[in-house]
Amino acid sequence: MPFQYIMMTFRTKFKGRIGRAYILYTKDIMVKEDVMHSPLYMTMRKEGGDNMTEMEFHQETVALDEEAKALVIIDQTKLPGRIEMLSLTKVEDVWEAIYQLKVRGAPAIGVAAAIGIYVAAVRFGNDGIAGTDVAMFQSRFRRAKEYLETSRPTAVNLFWALNRMEGVVTGYEGDSVAVLLRLLHDEAVKIHDEDVEVCRKIGEHALTLVRPGDGLLTHCNAGRLAAVKYGTATAPMYLGQERGYRFRIYADETRPLLQGARLTAFELQAAGMDVTLVCDGMSSALMQKGLVDAVFVGCDRVAANGDVANKIGTSVVACVAKQYGVPVYVCAPTSTIDMAIKSGTDIPIEERAGEEVTEMWYRERMAPEGVKVWNPCFDVTSHELIAGIVTENGIVRAPYEKSLPTVCS
Ligand code: MRU
Repeated sequence: MPFQYIMMTFRTKFKGRIGRAYILYTKDIMVKEDVMHSPLYMTMRKEGGDNMTEMEFHQETVALDEEAKALVIIDQTKLPGRIEMLSLTKVEDVWEAIYQLKVRGAPAIGVAAAIGIYVAAVRFGNDGIAGTDVAMFQSRFRRAKEYLETSRPTAVNLFWALNRMEGVVTGYEGDSVAVLLRLLHDEAVKIHDEDVEVCRKIGEHALTLVRPGDGLLTHCNAGRLAAVKYGTATAPMYLGQERGYRFRIYADETRPLLQGARLTAFELQAAGMDVTLVCDGMSSALMQKGLVDAVFVGCDRVAANGDVANKIGTSVVACVAKQYGVPVYVCAPTSTIDMAIKSGTDIPIEERAGEEVTEMWYRERMAPEGVKVWNPCFDVTSHELIAGIVTENGIVRAPYEKSLPTVCS
């Protein structure tokens, strides 16, 4: 097959205009006839020229297709080679998309779960007895929620978002499934919209910690691909870019699933930033050379004492940074703070298949058959290594037991 193509049929916004079709490619561009002649496509093509990467990338990471009542995501397992959108309506498909990291990153997982459970609820609200009987609807909703909660264990945003959605169902005392669905819709949209605002505020606070021209190191992808827009650790980078700060950004490749190489390098480059990709083991050499002024990372869960779970390898970067006196800042929406967990040792850490280490992303298997593999997906960085936690409500510093409650309202 000379080209692969996907045609989108959901409503999309480009520079304030609403269109109904989308085309996705970084390399071979092939567009369906009917799309090619649409005024929206013409505008897009004119803006983007032949290389559509930047222009295509106005697409949101996670969105609700109002018309099709579907969760729309960028399939992140296909990046950076292909920008492919998925439109999901079944709860099983939402579960699988989260589990397989088609949508990943703590805030994006939360938003996807909220929209995902809403679109699933629309389906069962449209059929059989659950379409008319509120009690039956509520029971099916709770089953779907419990199921989605099993998709990934570490990012607390998943549970936070699903609990918010369940709060709507629990709080409803009326007898109309249609009204309840409307309330669920509004809550899902709110969770989505809040994420944009929260990340922007994190960016504003984080920007006060750096100067134009600084070298910034980041690990994994806590970028716009991990949220709706801006990302968390990348929020100061996007805002700095808007304001001409000209940061030098270093992205760790992030073994084993290469979120740094595939996603962070891709999205920052697409945004026109000065980004350099480095292997995970290179952070010490970078800091030794004085090239890093600050480390910004995201996180999946913050414990009450300020310990932080983030992508495996984060704690290595933090230990190295301490050696060279480089501050490590963790960017975290308050939805990522879990005051019920006392310290990092209590945070559940996901373990994933060994094949992610031995085979995935390699053309050929890169380890002997049958070798034992340990593949924890996250590690815990001690609060002692963290210079500050940047939330949408401000920056907090040690002692975190005292400072974190001041930002968690
Ligand atoms: O396994 P992933 O790709 O979901 O891990 C993502 C991370 O570790 C991110 O750094 C974290 O979720 C913060 S995203 C703003």
